[in-house]
Amino acid sequence: MQYIEEKLDPKTADCARALKSLQEELEATSYYHQRFATTTEPELKDIVGHNRDEEIEHCCMLIEWLRRNMPKWDENLRTYLFTSAPLTEVESAGAEGAGADGDLSVRSTNR
Ligand SMILES: [Fe+2]
Repeated sequence: MQYIEEKLDPKTADCARALKSLQEELEATSYYHQRFATTTEPELKDIVGHNRDEEIEHCCMLIEWLRRNMPKWDENLRTYLFTSAPLTEVESAGAEGAGADGDLSVRSTNR
């Protein structure tokens, strides 16, 4: 893998690998999703739809690895995921703003 910086520490290099892999999985998801939308032959449509869904699973696995290894991912995922609140309101409420149920009231800091 080619890095934009030399002499990366092992943890930073692993994060770079995960981020590059996520980029590749997201691209693959988009390719398969576009093919699924435009494929008319039923069996091939099923295959590319299955492949798209597998790529989404790969994306989620990488995001979880990033959450465990890059603290800002954890902080932001806790803020933005699994909420039904409008996303711009979640942001303006700050990292402590939204609970998993979309409630914009201030969260407990016991996390
Ligand atoms: Fe994949």
